[in-house]
Amino acid sequence: MAKRTNPFRPGAGHQPPYLAGRETEKRVFGELLEQRTILENMVLTGLRGVGKTVLLETLKPIAEANDWLWVGADLSETTSADEEKIAIRLCTDLALKTSNIVIDTERTRTIGFETDEATREHTLNYETLFSIYEQTPGLSLDKLKAVLEVAWQALSKDRVRGIIFAYDEAQNLADHSKKDQFPLSLLLDTFQSLQRKNLPLMLALTGLPTLFPKLVEARTFSERMFHIVLLESLTKEDCRKAILQPIKDAKNALRLRKESVDTIVEMSGGYPYFIQFICKEVYDVFIQRLDKGREAQVPVHEIEQKLDTDFFAGRWSRTTDRQRDLMSVIAQLPNCDTEFTVQETVEKSREILEKPFGSSQTNQMLVALSNQGLVFKNRHGKYSFAVPLLGRYIRRQLK
Ligand SMILES: Nc1ncnc2c1ncn2[C@@H]1O[C@H](COP(=O)(O)OP(=O)(O)OP(=O)(O)O)[C@@H](O)[C@H]1O
Ligand SMILES: [Mg+2]
Repeated sequence: MAKRTNPFRPGAGHQPPYLAGRETEKRVFGELLEQRTILENMVLTGLRGVGKTVLLETLKPIAEANDWLWVGADLSETTSADEEKIAIRLCTDLALKTSNIVIDTERTRTIGFETDEATREHTLNYETLFSIYEQTPGLSLDKLKAVLEVAWQALSKDRVRGIIFAYDEAQNLADHSKKDQFPLSLLLDTFQSLQRKNLPLMLALTGLPTLFPKLVEARTFSERMFHIVLLESLTKEDCRKAILQPIKDAKNALRLRKESVDTIVEMSGGYPYFIQFICKEVYDVFIQRLDKGREAQVPVHEIEQKLDTDFFAGRWSRTTDRQRDLMSVIAQLPNCDTEFTVQETVEKSREILEKPFGSSQTNQMLVALSNQGLVFKNRHGKYSFAVPLLGRYIRRQLK
């Protein structure tokens, strides 16, 4: 019997049935793995749903095949983290690799870690790692460095070339000067300092386009410390593969005509999440029609409506009327899908609104919209929509 299970996977972090493109990005990562002294770490960045999480997952086996260890986590919940929480995070992640390693008590004492019973065997589990953090004298930086040095000493015995620390949603890391807590700077200082001492510990941070400016704001040396890999929408050819390969692999009679594929590519704007979303719908409709022996067409309008409800409406409904007015103005700029300036927005609003926006008001509102995750400001002071195809969605609302 033909396989009917829908292969497409629209969902944050869900591995697609076929990961299209991203060859350049994988190659760049492979080159970073060749470094003997780590001069460059990786920042993998891009809009929501462009495929950062699944690419990061794909890099893991590449690293492991090259004798690198891989530890990491999702930092979605770390907005209010303090320095100790970052230390806990690193100890937790490292412990997964080190907890079976027995360390002799002599060695633990030399690094300042006191044991109750001098003769008892110790493994480098979470408790041991964290007590190194707690018992090392000095600043958080000294403490965290001690943990990583001990862990690396223990792990470097085998063929291991180094350790990748992979953190997803890293745009959530932040310093809090009011609370006198600098977890982001701590992380950067720690890796910079250990890399200078030739320890092969590499950061692979993933996040929204706000990530890199945030790193540079915390520590200007981040500018030189990271290689930025910017994930963008897929090329037309890769879109076609993302659409057709899973259908081919499903080994049933379903076929998509070229026009249908072109329609999906156009609707998706090449964004992987939208490809999965649209294809999941199309697959169901086409399979049904196939059962009835009829040809099907891509139900553009219905899918668009579903996408609007499922993906965009929630974000749009959290805005005020005046914010919507401003975003509607932006959506009518010819360059709204790339980047736009405050000045352009103000001018457009004069053209189309009875009550136009002034510069300072626009500025303020864009800051609020950034905090809501709808726009972001890049390093050159220009703004972009933070959600792919948002301009098109807004223009649909205006009809
Ligand atoms: N190269 C690709 N080819 C086909 N589908 C892909 C590709 N990359 C990602 N996808 C699909 O796109 C969707 C979004 O992927 P993912 O969750 O990795 O994006 P993200 O950039 O991490 O999003 P977010 O910013 O929300 O965390 C998933 O359904 C995934 O299966
Ligand atoms: Mg993600």
